[in-house]
Amino acid sequence: MADIKVLTLVGSLRAASVNRQLAELAAEAAPEGVTLTIYEGLGDLPFYNEDIDTEDAPAEVVALRAAAAEAAATLVVTPEYNASIPGVLKNAIDWLSRPYGDGALKDKPLAVIGASFGQYGGVWAQDETRKSFGVAGPRVVESVKLSVPAKTLDGKHPRENAEVAAAVRDVVEKLVAEVG
Ligand SMILES: Cc1cc2nc3c(=O)[nH]c(=O)nc-3n(C[C@H](O)[C@H](O)[C@H](O)COP(=O)(O)O)c2cc1C
Repeated sequence: MADIKVLTLVGSLRAASVNRQLAELAAEAAPEGVTLTIYEGLGDLPFYNEDIDTEDAPAEVVALRAAAAEAAATLVVTPEYNASIPGVLKNAIDWLSRPYGDGALKDKPLAVIGASFGQYGGVWAQDETRKSFGVAGPRVVESVKLSVPAKTLDGKHPRENAEVAAAVRDVVEKLVAEVG
């Protein structure tokens, strides 16, 4: 069976990002035959602009859409910024939502998880990411949820927290099970 590729989008560009660490943990937890790849180019995308969303779209956009086209599913791992979606992630959603009705993630399963320092672990950002991707093309798996209040990690990598590691493994398994 061909390898199942899972596009992994991280909503924080910070080198020491807890959400990036959660994404690393998800990649480590992937079962055999499943590869999660953290997409490294979100910070290089220009702001969405219909004037440049042409057949001659910027190379950074073409690369994102190509990675999305290759993937069977998407895992989004995002913090909450000011009670909402970080701009870098929202910008990626906008690029992935076009061509309208025929984006590269159309009908493919997508799950959203994340960590934030607020006591609810950034649920508003996760809910809004589900809402936004829900109209952008992918099939949002609403039943897969995980919000990690970052303080519970005590500054350690989430892989060192057995409860979080088990929860992330469960997320990956449930997302992969949605691949048709
Ligand atoms: C611009 C900005 C806005 C933030 N707004 C929120 C917020 O609304 N809710 C929250 O829980 N944390 C908020 N935080 C704190 C983040 O949860 C915290 O910085 C988190 O570690 C970011 O994720 P990262 O470690 O993956 O970069 C905010 C942080 C920044 C930089």
